[in-house]
Amino acid sequence: MSRIAYVNGRFVRHRDACIHIEDRGNQFADAVYEVWGVRGGALMDFDGHMTRLARSLSELQIRPPMSNASLSVILARMVALNHIGNGLIYLQISRGQARRDHIFPPLDTRPGIMITAKPVNFEKAEVRAGKGISVITQPDIRWARRDIKSVSLLPNVLAKQAAAEAGAGECWMIDADGFITEASASNVWIVTADGTLVTRPASNDILNGITRRTLFELARNAGIKTQERPFTRDEALSAREAFITSASAFLTPVVEIDGKSVANGHPGTFSLQLRASYVATANERARKQINRPSVWLVARRGERPVN
Ligand code: PDD
Repeated sequence: MSRIAYVNGRFVRHRDACIHIEDRGNQFADAVYEVWGVRGGALMDFDGHMTRLARSLSELQIRPPMSNASLSVILARMVALNHIGNGLIYLQISRGQARRDHIFPPLDTRPGIMITAKPVNFEKAEVRAGKGISVITQPDIRWARRDIKSVSLLPNVLAKQAAAEAGAGECWMIDADGFITEASASNVWIVTADGTLVTRPASNDILNGITRRTLFELARNAGIKTQERPFTRDEALSAREAFITSASAFLTPVVEIDGKSVANGHPGTFSLQLRASYVATANERARKQINRPSVWLVARRGERPVN
């Protein structure tokens, strides 16, 4: 079975998919992206990611390439064409293709769009979460608009590579005042001694994760205390528990920071329960999503979307 990608209006074989060398995403990282988890064939936190995508585009004044309805059909079709039960969908939208010039191209330049899908073995992810991961820390060297999900990810790439070389699962980034901002591809949380969930407030300093937002909602509904405030590596080291959240990691416990154990060096019950509850809620929402006739049935019938 060949993988299928979607590029600028066409479903094509993944190995044949290509974009123009003068796509601005390629030359200037002038593009934004989104990543959805897929569970049981449905996109998780669908609306949240769509809303953030619209915001990223608007902040950078990139024209949406199509309506949300059309995009929803294409995303659903990508899941179906690639037979994704559990996996990830990656979407990237650039300012389009134009002769290289820093200034924005003419307004009628068509934005570029590409989508890929890949299966993920969630059982493996479950095992990883059950063990917890270790993380390293590094100074945050990124730009001042981390709230925009831009494809300009070189500092994140370097941070994640440093983590991998140190045998760690993530790299937490630290601002000039010594506070953790977030990780290279996830948000960072701690659980304090009195069971309060703490994470950095959403601002230009971090990407406001969709998983982060869903977890907040879950915690509030469950009557768990939450606090949005910055914290240091030392506070995390003396916390009851620590974890990261993202569309691909869901909620993954952190058991070691820079070689030092968090609490007893094992995932805490709080984190593991929250993870289970997040996955259950996301599954439930995904099931509802799949029943939205306007999107999923059209996609299943294979109607050709408009671009
Ligand atoms: N990363 N912070 C950063 C820097 C991220 O790249 C991500 C997501 C998050 C968590 O956001 P969300 O919960 O919406 O996935 C926080 C994605 C998964 C990636 O780049 O692959």
